[in-house]
Amino acid sequence: MTDRNGPQGYALVSRLNHWIVGGAVLALFGIGLIFHDMPRGPDRAALQALHVSIGTLAALPILFRVFWRVREGFPPPLPGPRWQLIAAKVVHWALLLAIFGLAVTGPVGEWTGREGALHVFGWFSVPSPIGASRDLHNAAEAIHATLARPVLLILLVVHVGAVAKHLVINRDRTLMRMIRGDRG
Ligand code: HEM
Ligand code: HEM
Repeated sequence: MTDRNGPQGYALVSRLNHWIVGGAVLALFGIGLIFHDMPRGPDRAALQALHVSIGTLAALPILFRVFWRVREGFPPPLPGPRWQLIAAKVVHWALLLAIFGLAVTGPVGEWTGREGALHVFGWFSVPSPIGASRDLHNAAEAIHATLARPVLLILLVVHVGAVAKHLVINRDRTLMRMIRGDRG
């Protein structure tokens, strides 16, 4: 593979990964928060089905994204105080772990529950490889909900806040490294 992270920025694969998966994660997060607060009924069921459809399509790219980061590592950080470099590493790995956990517990919760399969927009279904289990279903749902809120919520606030700080206060290339890579 020639498209590795360069010394100055993220390679094309990483940038596509970041923005496509990031957009899907934000959409899933928003839809999840909305239906969680709705009373049971057809509207809630429709939003949950939308969440599962998008989630199933996003699961493989999410898993690939995490695999890719583990394999390729990060490009060297821009200069900054040591605490900041450590904080960025910790938050980035925590984000990757959180979305990995969500991409696993989401499908496991569906597969072990009453549905027993992942239905994607009525186009196709992914049958359960594990079968029903009330205990596994409850555990997967509880972990999924916790990973989404508060874990992912806090990480995203810190992550987007840090990027905004680099943009407005430091005025450095942090954001451009994720948009244009080495050329930014
Ligand atoms: C990284 C991506 C994901 C995010 C950010 C996310 C976020 C959320 C949120 C915020 C909720 C509401 C949690 C609550 O009840 O408090 C939720 C519930 C749910 N998610 Fe996800 N989710 C993701 C991926 C997936 C995937 C891949 C699937 C399955 C294919 C899935 C299936 C479900 C289901 C079935 C529920 C409802 C559980 C219940 O009834 O409590 N999610 N998700
Ligand atoms: C408006 C939304 C977002 C902006 C502006 C943004 C911006 C950035 C920037 C500029 C970097 C590079 C930081 C550096 O080199 O130190 C980065 C890295 C990263 N971002 Fe985001 N991000 C956003 C949303 C998200 C979301 C929703 C996720 C969760 C899936 C996420 C996960 C990550 C991760 C894990 C990294 C580390 C590099 C990688 O593995 O891709 N970001 N982000």
